[in-house]
Amino acid sequence: MMALLFAICLFSNVEAFRMTTNRIGNVGLSMAVSKKDVYTVTLLPGDGIGPEILQATTPVLDEVASKLGFKFNFREADIGGIAIDNHNDPFPDSTYEACSTADSVLLASIGGYKWDSNPRELRPESGLLKMRKSMGLFANLRPAKVIPQLMDASTLKREIIEGVDIMVVRELTGGIYFGTPKGIETDPATGVRKGYSTGVYTDTEIERIAKVAFDVAMKRNGKVCSIDKANVLEVSQLWRDVVIATHEANADYKKNIELSHMYVDNCAMQLIRWPKQFDTIVTGNMFGDIISDEASMLVGSLGMLPSASLGDPSGPGVFEPCHGSAPDIAGQDKANPLAQILSAAMMCRYDLDRGDAADMIEAAVEKVLDGNQRTGDIMEDGYTLVGCKEMGEAVVNAL
Ligand code: IPM
Ligand code: MG
Repeated sequence: MMALLFAICLFSNVEAFRMTTNRIGNVGLSMAVSKKDVYTVTLLPGDGIGPEILQATTPVLDEVASKLGFKFNFREADIGGIAIDNHNDPFPDSTYEACSTADSVLLASIGGYKWDSNPRELRPESGLLKMRKSMGLFANLRPAKVIPQLMDASTLKREIIEGVDIMVVRELTGGIYFGTPKGIETDPATGVRKGYSTGVYTDTEIERIAKVAFDVAMKRNGKVCSIDKANVLEVSQLWRDVVIATHEANADYKKNIELSHMYVDNCAMQLIRWPKQFDTIVTGNMFGDIISDEASMLVGSLGMLPSASLGDPSGPGVFEPCHGSAPDIAGQDKANPLAQILSAAMMCRYDLDRGDAADMIEAAVEKVLDGNQRTGDIMEDGYTLVGCKEMGEAVVNAL
């Protein structure tokens, strides 16, 4: 796991992927899966634009596999809204089986208006949370590296974002997302309703994600900023104490990692004011949810960002775009498939021991971006607007 994470930290976008390939080889990368002739990959298309971005991605994987002399054996399972419709469960046992027995999992996106007013356990989002918890995917890595070809797609000024390269390491199976007690209750005497959730972290949960962040940062610029709200929340006080103690306890971390701390409100502001001050950010589940969305906007489009959710190396990781299901453009062939395609590249590199396939995919994406085709989310004057399918085909052709 740690070796896997050593390597993951190196990527941020296509350019970083390409540049760092050789360095990855030097860190003794150990995989959940060693090289095979056939890889079983469970596809979770989910909802909204999910099916179309995955449809644009599998031909890329097939093409690269055929070029390199191996095969993908894809199988599909339901998650999110479609799983609620088909199984009355957003993450049914059959999907858990299909995921946990695969070499890796490629997830698209979940959610849509149709299920928005369902009770909590029958909402698409609950399926995602159930997947993360049941598969033990405690470490979520979300890179935000500005892509030179897309610099002008950001709403921020060029001088602010030029050179931004941030990795958000988000804890994914704890915190207020999963803490108990939680609920909504009505006081029988007054009729007053009360809703509550509990933000809770154990020291072992904090230590394990802190180590991931330190390992990640070792292969980047050696700077970790831990984000909390320790001025107000007890759970954040423990977070900060344990992050400091984990840093202190390991001579390598102490020597190589510059650790700082920031309150989450300040971090939200600093990310927009001067994002280049950040290298690796480590934070809990909820702050990580918010901060990673904010960081992704530095890059211009969520449509470009892959992510990895990892747990124990004996099990598969889940690779997915950072963006959501975009129900407003679903089924219209308008979505940008590149985050999904780059997620597939990450999967090859970090779960399947196929760095060669990852290199090829990333180089192809870069080649496409050097050209003049753009999906709507990254469209600029002078470029040609293409749909999801065409963008996927452009990547296949660039391989
Ligand atoms: C994310 C999403 C999820 C989260 C939702 C859909 C449950 O926002 O992956 O960031 O809050 O974790
Ligand atoms: Mg989110």
